[in-house]
Amino acid sequence: MKAGKKITPTIIIIFGGTGDLAKRKLIPAFYNLYLEGWMPDKFAIIGLGRTPLTDKTYHEHLHEGLLQFSRSGVPDKEKWKQFSASVSYLKSDINDPEAYQQLGSDLAKLDSEWKLRANRLFYLSIAPQFIDMAATNIGKYALANEATQDRIVIEKPFGYNKQTAVALNQLFGNTFQEEQIYRIDHYLGKETVQNILAFRFANALFEPLWNRNYIDYIQITVAEQVGVEDRGGYYEQSGALRDMIQNHLLQVLCMVAMEAPISLAAEEIRNRKVDVLRAVRRFKPEEIHQYAIRGQYNSGWLAGKKVPSYRQESGVSPSSNTETFVAMQLYIDNWRWQGVPFYLRTGKRMQEKTSSITIQFRPVPHSTFSPAQAGNLMPNRLTINIQPQMDIRLRFTTKKTGLEMSLNPAEMVFDYDKCSTQTPEAYETLLLDAMRGDATLFMRSDQVEEAWDVITPILEAWESRDSLDFPNYAAGTWGPESAEALIARQGHVWALNMHT
Ligand code: BG6
Repeated sequence: MKAGKKITPTIIIIFGGTGDLAKRKLIPAFYNLYLEGWMPDKFAIIGLGRTPLTDKTYHEHLHEGLLQFSRSGVPDKEKWKQFSASVSYLKSDINDPEAYQQLGSDLAKLDSEWKLRANRLFYLSIAPQFIDMAATNIGKYALANEATQDRIVIEKPFGYNKQTAVALNQLFGNTFQEEQIYRIDHYLGKETVQNILAFRFANALFEPLWNRNYIDYIQITVAEQVGVEDRGGYYEQSGALRDMIQNHLLQVLCMVAMEAPISLAAEEIRNRKVDVLRAVRRFKPEEIHQYAIRGQYNSGWLAGKKVPSYRQESGVSPSSNTETFVAMQLYIDNWRWQGVPFYLRTGKRMQEKTSSITIQFRPVPHSTFSPAQAGNLMPNRLTINIQPQMDIRLRFTTKKTGLEMSLNPAEMVFDYDKCSTQTPEAYETLLLDAMRGDATLFMRSDQVEEAWDVITPILEAWESRDSLDFPNYAAGTWGPESAEALIARQGHVWALNMHT
């Protein structure tokens, strides 16, 4: 959450400096922050990796990433030269103590050149099996000893289940203070997700309606057209429940369902969010099938191209039972939300790429209009489109122009594209916040553990019972039929599929 530009000189250390994330997201984000004047006056980025590279070849590798993935397009030659002068590469092995000693002396050297103790931002963009080693050694070699200046950013997965998440939190807790740990969920950095706070708490109009008295149900959909791409190995261990629901969708749910915070202070917001997760009704093992369904994509057609089934993807077992689609129904047991179903849905190889939230209001209590007049009377609906379309739409009913009374739905639309020139990428917002020491949009240990707690009964039920009907949806559709059936029981339909 940006607020003023001055940031203490910072050294950014990327573990996994040659990895995909650094190339696609991190370096483009730092570069765009640099272009817009958000980087500290003095900064250095040190990329760590096992491949032997010179600074020059490392720069070339990162430059390629900018060409492909940066929202600001082809980098200006002079600007890139200036920026990359602050980027260096250190060949290092996570298991090798010498690497940490070398890093320690590089950091000290920069401090002495700059004549101050710079802030340090460690970014752990490495496979889960290396996290333990990297964190322990950062602690052991005293690289992040200044609790108010040094921060560790970690990427998901935060554990594999509740037990491993607790162990991971303990490991980090032994080495760092909680306020040094920044667990990143890039969904929270998305402009449209952050705007939920502004929309809800900076307007007097909606909040009085934001409860069980006026809201019929809420849907959160994150649909992707991509398959598992080259991440089959990771995804086989994860599946959609761990990959998307445990983090991104539950975090969005928190933004939609939380109580009004007293301020935007990090702890205040995080307390309100964790309250939501604590109030989510836990499923009993025997009820799981009523509340959660899973799917796996078969081959199919997308954008006129034939795409393979999940089981044919590289790194995936031909008899895999990993889910690539999840739909579930949740209840939040508190005064505000008692009895309101929250439907969450995510899947790969879906018909459209779209992430959106649908707030469906109740119908009017009595129709003043005759059936002929009311033909098109639909309950109010608020749609918050997160991506790629970014807008907020409020559906309401109007009179059709003409001599007779006849009703018609209309829409009020707030469209981001019409109001701003360029929207920052989620990683830009989050990395800037991490450099500034603002943890509001990052997850606290208890949030992560509660989120695991919500999905654990489902994980356990699914792990103990193989789904026999996989694959059960064709690529290029809206998922398995059971997803429709799940919400049809309450007389509801998925908003996006119907385009109503
Ligand atoms: C990641 C998941 O966290 O989020 C991916 O691991 C998924 O599987 C991605 O594709 C979706 O992010 P976005 O920003 O493209 O919606």
